[in-house]
Amino acid sequence: MENSINLKEEYILELRDVSVSYTPGKNAVNMVNAGIKENTVTAIMGPSGCGKSTLLRAINRMHELYPDIKTTGEILLKGKDIFHMNPMKVRRLAGMVFQRPNPFPTMSIYENVIAGYKLNNIKLNKAERDEIVENSLRSVALWDEVKDSMTKKGTFLSGGQQQRLCIARALALKPEVLLMDEPTSALDPISTNRVEELIFELKKQYTIVIVTHNMSQAARLSDNSMFMYLGELVEYGTTKQMFTKPKDKRTEDYLTGVFS
Ligand SMILES: Nc1ncnc2c1ncn2[C@@H]1O[C@H](COP(=O)(O)OP(=O)(O)OP(=O)(O)O)[C@@H](O)[C@H]1O
Ligand SMILES: [Mg+2]
Repeated sequence: MENSINLKEEYILELRDVSVSYTPGKNAVNMVNAGIKENTVTAIMGPSGCGKSTLLRAINRMHELYPDIKTTGEILLKGKDIFHMNPMKVRRLAGMVFQRPNPFPTMSIYENVIAGYKLNNIKLNKAERDEIVENSLRSVALWDEVKDSMTKKGTFLSGGQQQRLCIARALALKPEVLLMDEPTSALDPISTNRVEELIFELKKQYTIVIVTHNMSQAARLSDNSMFMYLGELVEYGTTKQMFTKPKDKRTEDYLTGVFS
Protein backbone atom coordinates (compact mmCIF):
# COMPACT_ATOMS: atom_id res chain seq x y z
CA MET A 1 0.00 0.00 0.00
CA GLU A 2 1.41 3.34 -1.03
CA ASN A 3 0.01 5.02 2.04
CA SER A 4 1.83 2.84 4.49
CA ILE A 5 5.14 3.51 2.71
CA ASN A 6 4.63 7.25 3.01
CA LEU A 7 3.69 6.83 6.63
CA LYS A 8 6.88 4.91 7.31
CA GLU A 9 9.07 7.55 5.71
CA GLU A 10 7.51 10.27 7.78
CA TYR A 11 9.54 9.09 10.77
CA ILE A 12 13.29 9.03 11.17
CA LEU A 13 12.84 6.55 14.01
CA GLU A 14 10.01 4.15 14.48
CA LEU A 15 9.46 1.66 17.30
CA ARG A 16 7.12 -1.24 16.66
CA ASP A 17 6.07 -3.56 19.45
CA VAL A 18 9.42 -3.10 21.17
CA SER A 19 9.88 -5.18 24.31
CA VAL A 20 12.99 -5.77 26.40
CA SER A 21 13.39 -8.33 29.17
CA TYR A 22 16.23 -8.87 31.60
CA THR A 23 14.58 -11.94 33.11
CA PRO A 24 12.49 -14.41 31.10
CA GLY A 25 8.76 -13.79 31.35
CA LYS A 26 9.13 -10.24 32.66
CA ASN A 27 9.32 -7.24 30.34
CA ALA A 28 11.12 -4.12 31.57
CA VAL A 29 9.83 -2.47 28.39
CA ASN A 30 6.55 -3.82 27.08
CA MET A 31 5.28 -3.48 23.50
CA VAL A 32 6.22 0.13 22.87
CA ASN A 33 5.03 1.72 19.62
CA ALA A 34 6.06 5.22 18.60
CA GLY A 35 7.17 7.25 15.60
CA ILE A 36 9.66 10.08 15.96
CA LYS A 37 10.03 12.84 13.36
CA GLU A 38 13.28 14.34 12.17
CA ASN A 39 14.69 17.44 13.91
CA THR A 40 12.53 17.07 16.97
CA VAL A 41 13.36 16.68 20.63
CA THR A 42 11.40 13.92 22.35
CA ALA A 43 11.47 13.70 26.14
CA ILE A 44 10.97 10.36 27.88
CA MET A 45 9.57 10.79 31.37
CA GLY A 46 8.31 8.49 34.07
CA PRO A 47 9.08 7.25 37.56
CA SER A 48 12.31 5.49 38.45
CA GLY A 49 12.45 1.94 37.13
CA CYS A 50 9.71 2.41 34.50
CA GLY A 51 12.04 1.43 31.63
CA LYS A 52 13.25 4.74 30.20
CA SER A 53 16.93 3.82 30.03
CA THR A 54 16.08 0.31 28.91
CA LEU A 55 14.07 1.67 25.98
CA LEU A 56 16.80 4.14 25.03
CA ARG A 57 19.45 1.42 25.07
CA ALA A 58 17.33 -0.74 22.77
CA ILE A 59 17.54 1.97 20.11
CA ASN A 60 21.27 1.55 19.65
CA ARG A 61 21.37 -2.20 20.24
CA MET A 62 23.36 -1.90 23.45
CA HIS A 63 21.44 -4.74 25.07
CA GLU A 64 23.03 -7.23 22.73
CA LEU A 65 26.31 -6.78 24.56
CA TYR A 66 24.67 -8.82 27.35
CA PRO A 67 23.51 -12.30 26.34
CA ASP A 68 20.71 -12.56 28.95
CA ILE A 69 18.87 -9.49 27.73
CA LYS A 70 16.24 -10.11 25.08
CA THR A 71 14.89 -7.41 22.77
CA THR A 72 11.95 -8.06 20.46
CA GLY A 73 9.99 -6.00 17.95
CA GLU A 74 11.22 -3.75 15.19
CA ILE A 75 13.11 -0.49 15.35
CA LEU A 76 13.33 1.39 12.06
CA LEU A 77 15.97 4.03 11.55
CA LYS A 78 15.28 5.95 8.35
CA GLY A 79 12.96 3.10 7.39
CA LYS A 80 15.57 0.34 7.89
CA ASP A 81 15.28 -2.23 10.64
CA ILE A 82 18.29 -1.72 12.90
CA PHE A 83 18.33 -5.44 13.73
CA HIS A 84 19.27 -6.10 10.10
CA MET A 85 22.08 -3.59 10.16
CA ASN A 86 25.64 -3.87 11.40
CA PRO A 87 25.42 -3.15 15.17
CA MET A 88 28.51 -0.93 15.07
CA LYS A 89 26.85 1.13 12.36
CA VAL A 90 23.66 1.38 14.42
CA ARG A 91 25.69 2.71 17.36
CA ARG A 92 27.30 5.28 15.08
CA LEU A 93 23.98 6.44 13.67
CA ALA A 94 22.29 6.49 17.07
CA GLY A 95 24.83 8.18 19.34
CA MET A 96 24.42 7.88 23.09
CA VAL A 97 25.18 10.36 25.86
CA PHE A 98 24.97 9.16 29.45
CA GLN A 99 24.06 10.64 32.80
CA ARG A 100 27.62 10.94 34.04
CA PRO A 101 30.13 12.44 31.63
CA ASN A 102 32.38 9.53 30.68
CA PRO A 103 35.34 10.74 28.63
CA PHE A 104 37.91 7.97 28.12
CA PRO A 105 40.23 8.72 31.06
CA THR A 106 43.51 7.83 29.39
CA MET A 107 42.81 9.86 26.26
CA SER A 108 43.42 13.50 25.45
CA ILE A 109 40.58 15.85 24.53
CA TYR A 110 41.48 15.40 20.85
CA GLU A 111 41.63 11.61 21.08
CA ASN A 112 38.31 11.51 22.91
CA VAL A 113 36.49 13.32 20.13
CA ILE A 114 37.88 11.05 17.43
CA ALA A 115 37.71 7.84 19.52
CA GLY A 116 34.66 6.44 17.73
CA TYR A 117 36.56 6.26 14.44
CA LYS A 118 39.33 4.21 16.03
CA LEU A 119 36.81 1.89 17.69
CA ASN A 120 35.06 1.45 14.35
CA ASN A 121 38.36 0.93 12.54
CA ILE A 122 37.68 3.81 10.17
CA LYS A 123 40.93 5.19 8.80
CA LEU A 124 41.29 8.95 8.43
CA ASN A 125 44.24 11.14 7.56
CA LYS A 126 45.41 13.89 9.90
CA ALA A 127 43.62 16.69 8.03
CA GLU A 128 40.33 14.76 8.13
CA ARG A 129 40.76 14.04 11.83
CA ASP A 130 41.58 17.67 12.60
CA GLU A 131 38.53 18.84 10.73
CA ILE A 132 36.16 16.42 12.47
CA VAL A 133 37.58 17.30 15.89
CA GLU A 134 37.29 21.03 15.30
CA ASN A 135 33.77 20.85 13.84
CA SER A 136 32.52 18.58 16.60
CA LEU A 137 33.97 20.77 19.34
CA ARG A 138 32.54 23.86 17.66
CA SER A 139 29.09 22.21 17.54
CA VAL A 140 29.13 21.86 21.30
CA ALA A 141 30.60 25.34 21.82
CA LEU A 142 33.73 23.88 23.39
CA TRP A 143 36.29 24.71 20.71
CA ASP A 144 37.27 28.13 22.03
CA GLU A 145 37.60 26.76 25.54
CA VAL A 146 39.86 23.83 24.66
CA LYS A 147 41.62 24.60 21.39
CA ASP A 148 44.89 25.39 23.17
CA SER A 149 44.78 22.34 25.41
CA MET A 150 43.86 19.55 23.02
CA THR A 151 46.55 17.23 24.33
CA LYS A 152 45.33 17.46 27.92
CA LYS A 153 43.29 14.60 29.28
CA GLY A 154 39.52 14.85 28.79
CA THR A 155 39.05 14.30 32.50
CA PHE A 156 40.94 17.55 33.16
CA LEU A 157 37.82 19.47 32.10
CA SER A 158 34.95 20.55 34.37
CA GLY A 159 31.88 18.30 34.61
CA GLY A 160 29.89 20.44 32.20
CA GLN A 161 32.76 20.64 29.73
CA GLN A 162 33.23 16.87 29.98
CA GLN A 163 29.58 16.34 29.13
CA ARG A 164 29.90 18.63 26.10
CA LEU A 165 33.03 16.68 25.14
CA CYS A 166 31.01 13.46 25.28
CA ILE A 167 28.34 15.04 23.10
CA ALA A 168 31.09 16.10 20.66
CA ARG A 169 32.38 12.52 20.65
CA ALA A 170 28.91 11.29 19.62
CA LEU A 171 28.48 14.06 17.02
CA ALA A 172 31.89 13.30 15.49
CA LEU A 173 30.38 10.11 14.07
CA LYS A 174 27.66 12.09 12.28
CA PRO A 175 24.70 10.38 13.91
CA GLU A 176 21.12 10.58 12.70
CA VAL A 177 19.73 10.41 16.21
CA LEU A 178 21.19 11.48 19.51
CA LEU A 179 20.06 9.48 22.54
CA MET A 180 20.59 11.24 25.86
CA ASP A 181 19.97 9.54 29.20
CA GLU A 182 19.53 12.25 31.85
CA PRO A 183 22.46 14.18 30.36
CA THR A 184 22.31 17.04 32.86
CA SER A 185 21.39 15.32 36.09
CA ALA A 186 25.01 15.21 37.27
CA LEU A 187 25.69 18.84 36.30
CA ASP A 188 25.48 22.13 38.18
CA PRO A 189 22.79 24.65 37.11
CA ILE A 190 25.09 26.71 34.88
CA SER A 191 26.45 23.68 33.04
CA THR A 192 22.90 22.34 32.77
CA ASN A 193 21.86 25.57 31.16
CA ARG A 194 24.65 25.39 28.61
CA VAL A 195 23.83 21.79 27.71
CA GLU A 196 20.15 22.71 27.36
CA GLU A 197 21.04 25.61 25.04
CA LEU A 198 23.19 23.20 23.10
CA ILE A 199 20.35 20.68 22.73
CA PHE A 200 18.18 23.47 21.39
CA GLU A 201 20.86 24.35 18.84
CA LEU A 202 21.51 20.71 17.88
CA LYS A 203 17.85 20.14 17.13
CA LYS A 204 18.33 22.03 13.85
CA GLN A 205 20.58 19.24 12.59
CA TYR A 206 19.77 16.18 14.68
CA THR A 207 16.87 14.28 16.11
CA ILE A 208 17.15 14.01 19.86
CA VAL A 209 15.57 11.62 22.34
CA ILE A 210 16.22 12.64 25.92
CA VAL A 211 15.35 10.89 29.15
CA THR A 212 14.73 13.37 31.91
CA HIS A 213 13.35 13.43 35.43
CA ASN A 214 13.23 17.17 35.28
CA MET A 215 9.77 18.20 34.12
CA SER A 216 10.62 21.83 33.57
CA GLN A 217 13.51 20.69 31.41
CA ALA A 218 11.16 18.52 29.37
CA ALA A 219 8.75 21.43 29.05
CA ARG A 220 11.53 23.82 27.98
CA LEU A 221 13.30 21.56 25.55
CA SER A 222 11.04 19.04 23.97
CA ASP A 223 8.53 19.12 21.15
CA ASN A 224 7.02 15.78 22.08
CA SER A 225 6.90 13.78 25.27
CA MET A 226 6.48 10.16 26.21
CA PHE A 227 5.23 9.09 29.60
CA MET A 228 6.24 5.57 30.63
CA TYR A 229 4.91 3.58 33.53
CA LEU A 230 5.84 0.02 34.53
CA GLY A 231 7.48 -0.61 31.17
CA GLU A 232 4.60 0.67 29.08
CA LEU A 233 4.35 3.77 26.98
CA VAL A 234 1.23 5.18 28.58
CA GLU A 235 1.07 8.44 26.67
CA TYR A 236 2.87 10.03 23.76
CA GLY A 237 2.04 13.37 22.23
CA THR A 238 3.10 16.98 21.97
CA THR A 239 4.74 18.26 25.12
CA LYS A 240 2.33 21.16 25.21
CA GLN A 241 -0.66 18.89 25.17
CA MET A 242 0.80 16.49 27.71
CA PHE A 243 1.55 19.25 30.17
CA THR A 244 -1.72 21.07 29.75
CA LYS A 245 -4.16 18.27 29.04
CA PRO A 246 -2.76 14.83 29.75
CA LYS A 247 -4.97 12.09 28.39
CA ASP A 248 -4.17 9.43 30.96
CA LYS A 249 -4.77 9.72 34.68
CA ARG A 250 -1.36 8.21 35.41
CA THR A 251 0.37 10.91 33.34
CA GLU A 252 -1.57 13.57 35.17
CA ASP A 253 -0.70 12.07 38.55
CA TYR A 254 2.97 11.99 37.62
CA LEU A 255 3.02 15.53 36.30
CA THR A 256 1.25 16.86 39.36
CA GLY A 257 3.60 15.03 41.69
CA VAL A 258 1.19 12.44 43.04
CA PHE A 259 3.99 9.91 42.59
CA SER A 260 7.58 10.36 41.49
N1 LIG B 1 20.90 -4.82 33.96
C1 LIG B 1 19.70 -5.09 34.48
N2 LIG B 1 19.40 -6.33 34.91
C2 LIG B 1 18.20 -6.65 35.44
N3 LIG B 1 17.19 -5.76 35.56
C3 LIG B 1 17.43 -4.50 35.16
C4 LIG B 1 18.69 -4.10 34.60
N4 LIG B 1 18.62 -2.78 34.28
C5 LIG B 1 17.38 -2.39 34.62
N5 LIG B 1 16.66 -3.42 35.15
C6 LIG B 1 15.26 -3.36 35.59
O1 LIG B 1 14.45 -2.95 34.50
C7 LIG B 1 13.48 -2.01 34.91
C8 LIG B 1 13.64 -0.72 34.13
O2 LIG B 1 14.89 -0.13 34.47
P1 LIG B 1 15.44 1.19 33.79
O3 LIG B 1 16.84 1.38 34.26
O4 LIG B 1 15.20 1.13 32.34
O5 LIG B 1 14.48 2.31 34.43
P2 LIG B 1 14.54 3.89 34.32
O6 LIG B 1 13.17 4.31 33.95
O7 LIG B 1 15.65 4.31 33.45
O8 LIG B 1 14.81 4.31 35.85
P3 LIG B 1 15.64 5.56 36.43
O9 LIG B 1 14.75 6.74 36.29
O10 LIG B 1 15.85 5.18 37.87
O11 LIG B 1 16.93 5.67 35.68
C9 LIG B 1 13.64 -1.86 36.41
O12 LIG B 1 12.73 -2.70 37.05
C10 LIG B 1 15.07 -2.30 36.66
O13 LIG B 1 15.21 -2.85 37.94
MG1 LIG C 1 17.44 5.37 33.80
